[in-house]
Amino acid sequence: MPSSRSSRPGIILAGGSGTRLAPATGAFCKQLLPVFDKPMIYYPLSTLMLAGVRELLVITTPTDAPLFERLLGDGAQWGVHFSYATQAQPRGIAEALVIGESFLAGRASALVLGDNLFFGHDLPTLVQGAMVRARGATVFVQQVAHPEAYGVVDYDAEGRVRDIVEKPAVAPSRWAVTGLYLYDADAPALARSLVPSGRQELEITDLNRAYLQRGELTVAQMGRGAAWYDTGTPEALLEAAQFVHALESRQGLRIGCPEEIAWRQGWIDTEALQRLAHPMRHNGYGRYLLGLAAP
Ligand code: TTP
Repeated sequence: MPSSRSSRPGIILAGGSGTRLAPATGAFCKQLLPVFDKPMIYYPLSTLMLAGVRELLVITTPTDAPLFERLLGDGAQWGVHFSYATQAQPRGIAEALVIGESFLAGRASALVLGDNLFFGHDLPTLVQGAMVRARGATVFVQQVAHPEAYGVVDYDAEGRVRDIVEKPAVAPSRWAVTGLYLYDADAPALARSLVPSGRQELEITDLNRAYLQRGELTVAQMGRGAAWYDTGTPEALLEAAQFVHALESRQGLRIGCPEEIAWRQGWIDTEALQRLAHPMRHNGYGRYLLGLAAP
């Protein structure tokens, strides 16, 4: 079993208003909704675990925090450690760095949005490779058909990044900034110094632009071999679920299973994997986990 390289702490931001998914988000936040066969948060969590992240902070709303604690616990079952913090109001993605400042304790970080799903053969390597850089920030971008809903990269004629524009009316390219970000130890202080936008949020695009202005932003392109979904609308949620279903039923492999990743990373042993699977042995998820460990 491969053991992962030493890594940095991670933050999963899983709060927000979820207005685009209402009324599905009437009782609890969207990151607890299922994407096909598992809670949405399992997918971004898996992305960080595959990159070797074992120390994680989950930031969510005050009312959702107990639900996440019930779902994820302290992480020992998967050989990781979860801490929890709350965001009183959805005051922007960059506020995650401010809320996470004491958790990070002066260390570089990986931040992922709780409603983003990444899949791709080379992704763990791409992310791990970027984590080696101690200074600066890395954002991961992918081409999308409708970039206007995202932060969009403005490249000059030589392919250098000129700017990142948040939700542009006319997109300067089709390269959208995904919800996975790597930051050096300066990020909490930089985030704290941002001026809230017109919608009263600390904008993640402003934080990324601050790194760009310092000449310390790496923009890593995810090729067409990688899939990225943000699952914030009913249509996007359905598409993501269909994607997961198609992959899993065709290949007989599951994606976004923290139990499997923990086992493959060598963070839990086979006995622990079987213990986790046992209560689910009558459904496909549990049988899959039991099958992994079968000789
Ligand atoms: P969005 O999908 O941009 O916002 P939202 O969750 O508030 O949803 P809606 O627009 O439908 O009202 O947020 C992206 C991710 O970041 C998502 O996982 C929620 C999270 N988030 C927070 O936790 N706090 C925040 O202040 C913001 C803006 C987002």
